[in-house]
Amino acid sequence: MDMMENTKRTHKCGELTMANCGETVTLMGWVQRRRDHGGLIFVDLRDRYGLAQVVFDPEVGADIFTKAESLRNEYVIAVTGLVRQRPEGTTNENLATGEVEVKASDLKILNKAKTPPFYIEDGVDVDEMIRLKYRYLDLRRPEMQKALLMRHKVTMAAREFLNTKDFMEIETPMLTKSTPEGARDYLVPARLHPGEFYALPQSPQLFKQLLMVSGMERYFQLARCFRDEDLRADRQPEFTQLDMELSFVEQDDILDLTEELICYVFKKTMDRDIPRPFPRMTWADAMDKYGSDKPDLRFGMQLINVTDIVKDSDFKVFASVAQSGGEVKGICVKGGSSFSRREIDKLTEFVGIYGAKGLAYIYVEEDGLKSPVAKFFNEEQLAALRERMGGETGDLLMFVASTPNIVADALGHLRIEIAKLQGLIDENELNFSWVVDFPLLEYDDEEKRWVAIHHPFTSPKDEDLDILLTDPGKVRAKAYDMVLNGVEIGGGSIRIHRRDVQNKIFQLLGFSQEEAYAKFGFLLDAFEYGAPPHGGLAFGIDRVVMLMAGRETIRDVIAFPKTQSAACAMTQAPSAVENKQLRELYIKTDVPPNKQKGAKEQQ
Ligand code: AMO
Ligand code: AMP
Repeated sequence: MDMMENTKRTHKCGELTMANCGETVTLMGWVQRRRDHGGLIFVDLRDRYGLAQVVFDPEVGADIFTKAESLRNEYVIAVTGLVRQRPEGTTNENLATGEVEVKASDLKILNKAKTPPFYIEDGVDVDEMIRLKYRYLDLRRPEMQKALLMRHKVTMAAREFLNTKDFMEIETPMLTKSTPEGARDYLVPARLHPGEFYALPQSPQLFKQLLMVSGMERYFQLARCFRDEDLRADRQPEFTQLDMELSFVEQDDILDLTEELICYVFKKTMDRDIPRPFPRMTWADAMDKYGSDKPDLRFGMQLINVTDIVKDSDFKVFASVAQSGGEVKGICVKGGSSFSRREIDKLTEFVGIYGAKGLAYIYVEEDGLKSPVAKFFNEEQLAALRERMGGETGDLLMFVASTPNIVADALGHLRIEIAKLQGLIDENELNFSWVVDFPLLEYDDEEKRWVAIHHPFTSPKDEDLDILLTDPGKVRAKAYDMVLNGVEIGGGSIRIHRRDVQNKIFQLLGFSQEEAYAKFGFLLDAFEYGAPPHGGLAFGIDRVVMLMAGRETIRDVIAFPKTQSAACAMTQAPSAVENKQLRELYIKTDVPPNKQKGAKEQQ
């Protein structure tokens, strides 16, 4: 193995072009591949910037040639040589540097490498657990580097924009008191306060509001947030928010500014022009037409209510649901009559995941409507169904009858599933929208109390204040989400800034005055010292970058993500700790045998 010995890298692999021909360059990087042929040794050398072809010919001298023969994948080397045009017929058009090669005159092996557990190249077909275990190798793959570079560009552009708009970047504590965002907290034992715990922040919500009371006026932070919740492709236990708060603003000011921010970021990092203003839809409309509070508007297939048409039909399922306060809704699948019985059975199973007890369907054919359930409807009802649904020859009408929530959930997911099956989604499109006027509260049947949908510091809409105590479920909030291609990428609200209103909300949420004060006394006190009207929003940076980079999961845009079970496959965190550490914290664990580490695997 060789030392650096003052060798300086002069160029990056990926940047060599015909313009470099005739130059002597020194490259450093990893061996992607070594090929020996025709008495020559070819090495594809890789660094962050791309690949370059290096050629060793025996003239280079026995020492170096032998060294070149010993090269294996992922060895770290420094190569000096002359850049020249590749001989005719050997140009590689798929490679940025494909017109040139480096004729080596010197080689240093800076480090050797074991054979990696998977190829360091894009699109490798390898179990994600292996990728996560060897994340440092996974991150060597160009597509992963590209994703992290994209992330870097996004945060740089956002900082740049916010700086020009007078925002101050301010850090808030990681060791703090629980901030209620609806998930479970991660707790950290406080050694100096035996038996007490800090919570890692679910978001900087309370601190950013207090910064407004402090007169900062415009705050932002790239804030790490921690939520102990069930994980999915677009959820991690720790994730990053671009968190913002502004004083002396109303909802429109925030929507306007954050749209401008997003457009700036997309222009700067992807050179995409996004039309403004983004369309706005009320939450009620989104739920009604798309069955979701984060509708994917890249395709139509809206949900259509037919409860009134079917309520007096002979189809018992529909009639009884309709008469007992439920809903019957459908979607019209254009060209869907090509769906076979088996495909429909699969879709019936699919809606079952969301609680639908069945999926009724009607084929619209040249000579009328065909369906196993058609016999339960009279001519008039069938004609009304067809007309309401906009059914044309070749279409398939599909219906779910159930409670409004299940209907929305089932059909909302079904329309996406069918859009995927029919290839209706333009993967290149960036479809932004706002969902506004969320309900302030929802009733939690388990806890038997009202809970805040966004968080308890969100302001009710002024015009709904008078029904706050009489009809809490109908109160709308000054809350909004930004949606991109069916993913909620950001959310926020105008906050309550008066103690009396905040008290009222706590009361509605079932907190006694004492409880509210014990939890949020510092905020309530602060509100009494001149809190300005304020509001804000937080973007989920991981989700934004995931969509920009065209990845399926946010794990692909986080350097060291957790697995589905919130563990780190590489460091093996979480892990048991020494008893001494626990004793210092006065902590004893009491884990039942079936929950102990490894117990699951043994079962
Ligand atoms: P909210 O809880 O809606 O709002 O979060 C804001 C945005 O953060 C992203 N996000 C997540 N990303 C990855 N993994 C997760 N587990 C996760 N949870 C949320 C989403 C979401 O839109 N304090 C408020 C903001 C405010 O009111 O200003 C808040 O945290 O993209
Ligand atoms: P059944 O009467 O259960 O044989 O169902 C007849 C048809 O109605 C089948 O296609 C079922 O999938 C459908 N179906 C049953 N229950 C529902 C429901 N709640 N909503 C929509 N379709 C249903």
